[in-house]
Amino acid sequence: MNDTVIGVIGGSGIYEIEGLEGSEWVAVDTPWGEPSDRILTGSLNGVRMAFLPRHGRGHVHSPTTVPYRANIDALKRLGVTDVVSVSACGSFREEMAPGDFVIVDQFIDRTFAREKSFFGTGCVAHVSVAHPTCARLGAVAAEAAEAAGAKVHRGGTYLAMEGPQFSTLAESRMYREVWGCDVIGMTNMPEAKLAREAELCYASVAMITDYDSWHPDHGEVDVSEIIRTLMGNAEKGRALAAGLPGRLSGERAACGQGCDRALDHAILTRPEA
Ligand code: ADE
Repeated sequence: MNDTVIGVIGGSGIYEIEGLEGSEWVAVDTPWGEPSDRILTGSLNGVRMAFLPRHGRGHVHSPTTVPYRANIDALKRLGVTDVVSVSACGSFREEMAPGDFVIVDQFIDRTFAREKSFFGTGCVAHVSVAHPTCARLGAVAAEAAEAAGAKVHRGGTYLAMEGPQFSTLAESRMYREVWGCDVIGMTNMPEAKLAREAELCYASVAMITDYDSWHPDHGEVDVSEIIRTLMGNAEKGRALAAGLPGRLSGERAACGQGCDRALDHAILTRPEA
């Protein structure tokens, strides 16, 4: 088994990991094009880490144009074993308030304008995403978030929408009341599916910034409100990332859920084809 290498994909508001030793922004080339940005590599508490700003420094990629395949492939090429995704989201639950963190464990994927697989013509594979996040890694992320002072909700269903516009009121009500979703965001899909295809453990920490548009006491979603909440949370987000290596280190045991063996029974194409 290889040593643990932690990848962090940071969303809006988190653009680096502080305190990394031997840190260097490295360019990684992939068959899927360039990742969103260079990747910050280094070590913390003796554990190798790789940090990728999902939207690029300066926030240049929209949720639709983020090169998800290149991002996951680049982390894999750097030896990453465990990916913690940090992103902003809206809430469909009164008790999941702006400022809280949710450890997402299910998704409904409504994105439609993104490349969603590494497989296609030439090599066909169907991985299972019945349980799309890694429970062990999610528990570690939850502990690190709590230690960073965040109020954490363990478990939640994330509606992944295409954007870039926010939802209509009718959509917001449907996702909440009919589909039973807890939070909404624009970036965790196809990231989670691609991480599974790349046999990486993946956990999603969604930082709540707003109540989307369903809430009668809150107005429409507004980017300045999102940024305000994110800035208020950035310190906790950074502390969460810095708290991962102390909880996840050394030689990596096989994933109990099989994230690291997801392709074992997934490829249909004959090897000689
Ligand atoms: N990101 C942050 N808040 C959001 C919302 N309400 N809808 C979609 N993505 C979001």
